[in-house]
Amino acid sequence: MDTVLEVKGITKKFPGVLANDHVDFNLRKGEIHALLGENGAGKSTLMNIIYGLTSPDDGEILINGKATHFHSPKDAIACGIGMVHQHFMLVPVFTVAENIMLGSEKLRNGVLDIVQVNKDLKELSTQYGLEIDPTSLVHDLPVGIQQRVEIIKALYRKAEILILDEPTAVLTPQEVEDLFIIIRKLVDQGISVIFITHKLKEVLSIADRITVMRGGKVIATDDPKQTNEQALASQMVGRTVILKVDKTPAKPGDVVLSVKDLHVQDDRKIETVRGVSFEVRKGEILGIAGVQGNGQTELAEAMTGLRHAISGEIRIQDQNVFNHPPRDLVEKGMGHIPEDRQKHGFVMQYPISDNLVLCSYYVSPFCRRGVLQNSAIGTNAENLIKRFDIRTPSPYVPTSKLSGGNQQKVIVARELSRNIKFLVANQPTRGLDVGSIEYIHHEIVQMRDEGIGVVLISAELDEIMALSDRIAVMYHGEIVAILPADKVTREELGLMMAGSLKPEVSTI
Ligand SMILES: Nc1ncnc2c1ncn2[C@@H]1O[C@H](COP(=O)(O)OP(=O)(O)OP(=O)(O)O)[C@@H](O)[C@H]1O
Ligand SMILES: [Mg+2]
Repeated sequence: MDTVLEVKGITKKFPGVLANDHVDFNLRKGEIHALLGENGAGKSTLMNIIYGLTSPDDGEILINGKATHFHSPKDAIACGIGMVHQHFMLVPVFTVAENIMLGSEKLRNGVLDIVQVNKDLKELSTQYGLEIDPTSLVHDLPVGIQQRVEIIKALYRKAEILILDEPTAVLTPQEVEDLFIIIRKLVDQGISVIFITHKLKEVLSIADRITVMRGGKVIATDDPKQTNEQALASQMVGRTVILKVDKTPAKPGDVVLSVKDLHVQDDRKIETVRGVSFEVRKGEILGIAGVQGNGQTELAEAMTGLRHAISGEIRIQDQNVFNHPPRDLVEKGMGHIPEDRQKHGFVMQYPISDNLVLCSYYVSPFCRRGVLQNSAIGTNAENLIKRFDIRTPSPYVPTSKLSGGNQQKVIVARELSRNIKFLVANQPTRGLDVGSIEYIHHEIVQMRDEGIGVVLISAELDEIMALSDRIAVMYHGEIVAILPADKVTREELGLMMAGSLKPEVSTI
């Protein structure tokens, strides 16, 4: 088989970090080559180098056997390379067609030739089975469709090598299946794909070859038929990982958070939370399962003060906190891991140390008589970086310089280390490697055992099943069932989430 891309001896240093250490990697025509590795292993860096976003300190890139030097993504695109980034790069207020054209505008008589672009897009959509409406605003599209726009954008630029950096981290299981169908179609048409993910099941089901990175180095390239989840996990993190959560039955105490008949609208003024009620007790984990887009996002936002609800009741213990601002909720004992880390989790440009005190910088020991206590803030950061294994050369680098998974760990570390009464954890382990997931699951269970009430919202059914003591199923803005976690199977949950099974188990 022809090798379409080969990198040899790629080395890249950032201040204090050897992100890529003599990396050799190749991609064959029409294959799906998965790239695995712990958070901060150097995967995105390697891909950014291949895409011309960063230049290596050393090493070679060969495209179809020819040595090449990229000065910018423009050069890489000209060589047939396309990339869908870990954090999307679309302009939300532009239409699909405008986003796709951006940077390679077609003009006719000095004006944008939107008719031609729409026609080209139609053709691409049919060729690869990527249905899309070129006139919709990106802002209005679900994440899975936004990703499709990114893929079409690359194909529109005639990509023959497609890099997908953690494409499934933000997708629902159904969207993942759709994406896999698309990827297989692309490969059938001769496109070669590099696929980054932390989900081992996915890798084993879709990849032709699997390369594992750790600490900037390539550790191994495996044949998926000759390996398994456990072996890959160990290669990734360099130790044995327990893939199952170990926990004893919950001992629930008093109600810490209650939500009654809550109604919430989304940005388009559509009511997406329609009369939701539930209670969370101290010392228990209530999982909220549901296909993305069934109101979980708006529910979490309303509960955490990020979105005004229309009506209903939210109480922390016996205090009414309906539509109270986030700071008030934080002061009353709320912890929150938001769904979108870059939007609601921290300030990208701030150093890690400041982001770790974002909810508590104005109280002792971090502030005294109105003056920030830098040494206390620094010590706090050093402790949390160690405890949560945040990979960074120092506590004072801007958080934007961290790898995606390490950014997530900053938020989790901050929220789990505060003195909280309840935690709203929305996709808490999104983008984390198996080792970090193991640790964070353990921490969440431990918090439960210390008497904290946890609301866990997750698109990962495995995560919901593994952590929850009770599971609430959300469908079309309503909670259709609340079940004890040990009385329901994965299949039953899946069917309830799709609205095709009326729960038989009694609601508790
Ligand atoms: N622009 C940058 N400046 C400084 N350090 C950086 C920069 N980009 C990446 N790094 C560092 O390089 C290392 C590798 O990061 P990279 O983003 O490649 O990891 P990754 O394997 O993609 O991890 P993840 O699974 O968390 O996305 C990390 O330690 C990161 O902090
Ligand atoms: Mg990455």
